[in-house]
Amino acid sequence: MGGLCFSFMISANLFFLSSTISFAVDGFTPSQCVLDGTTLVSSDGSFELGFFSPGSSKNRYLGIWFKNVPVRTVVWVANRCNPINDTSGVLMINSTGNLVLLSQNSSVVWSTSLVKQAQNATVELLDSGNLVLRDAKDGNSGTYLWQSFDYPSDTLLPGMKLGWDLRTGLKRHLSAWKNSDDPCPGDFTYGIEMQLQAYPEAYILNGSTKFFRTSAWNELTICGSPEHPSPRYSFNFVYNNDEVFVTYKPKIESILSRVVLNQTTSTCARFQWKVGYQAWQDFSSRPTESCDYYGFCGANGNCTSEDPVCKCIQGFSPKSQEKWNLADWSLGCVRNKPLSCHEGDKDEFLKFDGFKLPDTTNSWVDKSMNLKECRDKCLKNCSCTAYTSSDIGGGSGGCTIWFGDLIDIKQVPVAGKEICIRTSAAEIVNNEGENSRKVKIAIIVVGIAIVFSGVLLVGYVIRRRKRKNEEIRERNEDNEGAPRGDMELPLFDLMTVARATDNFSSNKKLGEGGFGPVYKGTLADGQEIAVKRLSRSSSQGLNEFMNEVILIAKLQHRNLVRLLGCCVQGEEKLLLYEYMPNGSLDSSIFDETRRELFDWSKRFNIICGIARGLVYLHQDSRLRIIHRDLKASNVLLDNEMNPKISDFGLARLLTEGDQTVANTDRVIGTYGYMAPEYFMGGQFSVKSDVFSFGVLVLEVITGRENKEFSDPSNSRNLCEHLWRLWNEGKPLELIDTCLGSSGTISEVLRCINIGLLCAQHHPDDRPSMADVVIMLGSQTALARPKQPGFFIERGTPEAGSNSGNQSRSTNELSISLLEA
Ligand SMILES: *[C@@H]1O[C@H](CO)[C@@H](O)[C@H](O)[C@H]1NC(C)=O
Ligand SMILES: *[C@@H]1O[C@H](CO)[C@@H](O)[C@H](O)[C@H]1NC(C)=O
Ligand SMILES: *[C@@H]1O[C@H](CO)[C@@H](O)[C@H](O)[C@H]1NC(C)=O
Ligand SMILES: *[C@@H]1O[C@H](CO)[C@@H](O)[C@H](O)[C@H]1NC(C)=O
Ligand SMILES: *[C@@H]1O[C@H](CO)[C@@H](O)[C@H](O)[C@H]1NC(C)=O
Ligand SMILES: *[C@@H]1O[C@H](CO)[C@@H](O)[C@H](O)[C@H]1NC(C)=O
Ligand SMILES: *[C@@H]1O[C@H](CO)[C@@H](O)[C@H](O)[C@H]1NC(C)=O
Ligand SMILES: *[C@@H]1O[C@H](CO)[C@@H](O)[C@H](O)[C@H]1NC(C)=O
Repeated sequence: MGGLCFSFMISANLFFLSSTISFAVDGFTPSQCVLDGTTLVSSDGSFELGFFSPGSSKNRYLGIWFKNVPVRTVVWVANRCNPINDTSGVLMINSTGNLVLLSQNSSVVWSTSLVKQAQNATVELLDSGNLVLRDAKDGNSGTYLWQSFDYPSDTLLPGMKLGWDLRTGLKRHLSAWKNSDDPCPGDFTYGIEMQLQAYPEAYILNGSTKFFRTSAWNELTICGSPEHPSPRYSFNFVYNNDEVFVTYKPKIESILSRVVLNQTTSTCARFQWKVGYQAWQDFSSRPTESCDYYGFCGANGNCTSEDPVCKCIQGFSPKSQEKWNLADWSLGCVRNKPLSCHEGDKDEFLKFDGFKLPDTTNSWVDKSMNLKECRDKCLKNCSCTAYTSSDIGGGSGGCTIWFGDLIDIKQVPVAGKEICIRTSAAEIVNNEGENSRKVKIAIIVVGIAIVFSGVLLVGYVIRRRKRKNEEIRERNEDNEGAPRGDMELPLFDLMTVARATDNFSSNKKLGEGGFGPVYKGTLADGQEIAVKRLSRSSSQGLNEFMNEVILIAKLQHRNLVRLLGCCVQGEEKLLLYEYMPNGSLDSSIFDETRRELFDWSKRFNIICGIARGLVYLHQDSRLRIIHRDLKASNVLLDNEMNPKISDFGLARLLTEGDQTVANTDRVIGTYGYMAPEYFMGGQFSVKSDVFSFGVLVLEVITGRENKEFSDPSNSRNLCEHLWRLWNEGKPLELIDTCLGSSGTISEVLRCINIGLLCAQHHPDDRPSMADVVIMLGSQTALARPKQPGFFIERGTPEAGSNSGNQSRSTNELSISLLEA
């Protein structure tokens, strides 16, 4: 019977079937349907329903996709695990008003299963991308017999609910495709979990294992976190007796957006269609940093932005110090002192602020309790471990208490919450004991000081006037200079910076790069600094700029150049960095004489340091930074020749916000270091940094520049030449003679191998930086490198040409970000 209906084509936004007439009787009914090859288009032309084959598969699926997006982007699939193997598929409404998908011989491949029969069912693909089935008598009332939005695939569209209908028990959650060829649900799901009496939480699950947890509900941003509130989207969370759900929508309605759960990348990401690039741009994908992974630091661990990321909550210690030292956090932490749990001998609470609250699975909520009652309630139950005054569900007041281990706590810079953690009185007394000892010592010290001051009184009076003047001067300088705080980025006054750099005098100039000159400066307290004077304004507003700079300043690692502060006044935007006395790596390693200072152990130390800095940027930091312009002149050396990466975060600061893998038409980078996919297509990811790192490693080992390199055998560059030598079994031929005998040959070979692996042509072949650090530190066998990435000799005019002039600089601190 499947073949007996009339198909009708594109641009019909409504198709209906008069089901009162039976098919079988005369086989000639005025019914309508969608056949393979025909489609249904929503009235505004934004979505299309029809049959498609995903990826390289030949199977046919019924799905909905964006009509105006040239790359087929499927947002919903009907027969996810039940493909049709030919083009016999047909979608229709059967006589009981169900939507059915039939294949050959009318076998049902997929169908809606309605409880009540519909007389005159109609189907419509709405402008929102929702496929709805409704009873004719309901008209446009918005009540549907069935809607595809109730059965999401891997994609959440604006207006779609993620959550539960508590009346019917319907759970709407995302489930990732197995892979890009198979839309059948894989292991990854994303949805809200409900526990009796506890707050609902949203998780990405891998099978039944929690993988990522969004923060407490009232700051929920789908797939995001409160640290990165989005100015472009609004979120709505509803929690009442009937429903628990969250929805989102872009503030500008014409923006095409989608939230997708992807098993291959193990992330949930919000994408936005960039008309200019004709590509989807990834915003706020999660999880990104270590602390995002559920329970990364184990039970009672405290995930921080510091190094190492995992600490124990105060009053707790690692369950196994040995494993903890090896950065295996899985066993978590246990209490130093057990809770007393007796009435009378009461436990105390330590208050912490600025946290992502622990998983609420084992929690209990009462909206009407006040803080005091909450605390008492917690004290009364021996298994209660914490309470919070923050009402995590929005609104004010209320009490949440936790039982047992506290899991998935994370320090957050913005919108963090307060939590009071139960601690045994003994633990606190212990601390206080220490404190009182300190007080005693302090008293003695003060006593001595008083005696001394008596003795010095006369001298003091005499020098008083002079001293006072000095104090005033100091205070002035303090005000102009840096108020040192942990979280706040010191703001410098333009006068102070001008004075420190002799009014930006040319003597003080360290170098000149694409974003402007760099000067050496000395602050009033004698501290030496490097001042980067951004010569062009960024596309961002002042607030956004400042937020970005504050975030960059929080990136602190021993292998990153530290941002000390900034100065924004009128058109001037200045960044103040710590000063690196030994200049940049290119001026050392490519310099005939200075090169000799670098024996193999120094070079190895430099390679390892750069790798660690990159791991931090790529994975352990809060922001997940892609450097985009890693090169020898962007690695500076401190007193002890330790490498520090500079200019990280600037690409991000001076272009666009929060993408981690993206296409860009503004290529920031340097010829010779840019990965082919970035150089050619503007596509950058952590793997394009890995490529640059690979080039850098080979340069450090050989002491030669990749792009300057030429040889008789016509290799296009150093990487390719080394790769040839490698394959010919004589990789050491090019090795810098200065390495002398100090180099253990096997270590050198290993580093060449790693460099070549990183510089491979295909991003997927390259290891991650975390892999690289492991490789550098172990003796395990390494893979055989494939062909390294190539460069076009005459690059695109924007990216290639002007980079040549400046990369061979001997500036002590060079900046050479390029602008396309
Ligand atoms: C499609 O599947 C049916 C039933 O499983 C099978 O009989 C038929 O041969 C298949 N057709 C093709 C082209 O594979
Ligand atoms: C219509 O489809 C539904 C779902 O497959 C099925 O339960 C019902 O029996 C079908 N009705 C008829 C008349 O075939
Ligand atoms: C489909 O119907 C044809 C003809 O009735 C029959 O030969 C064939 O075996 C059927 N195929 C399936 C998969 O039922
Ligand atoms: C179903 O639709 C037909 C034609 O539109 C109409 O004549 C009939 O009254 C409708 N039946 C019901 C029960 O609404
Ligand atoms: C998941 O992401 C990868 C990398 O972006 C992409 O190639 C793949 O097609 C995505 N998978 C699905 C099912 O969309
Ligand atoms: C998901 O779980 C499976 C089975 O436990 C595991 O093999 C896999 O590594 C997990 N995936 C991720 C990304 O953690
Ligand atoms: C977590 O660690 C940070 C950084 O050391 C500290 O400031 C904070 O108080 C710790 N929080 C808890 C709950 O121990
Ligand atoms: C303490 O709380 C736990 C978890 O809710 C509960 O099972 C237990 O009965 C409570 N104990 C007392 C004494 O209230």
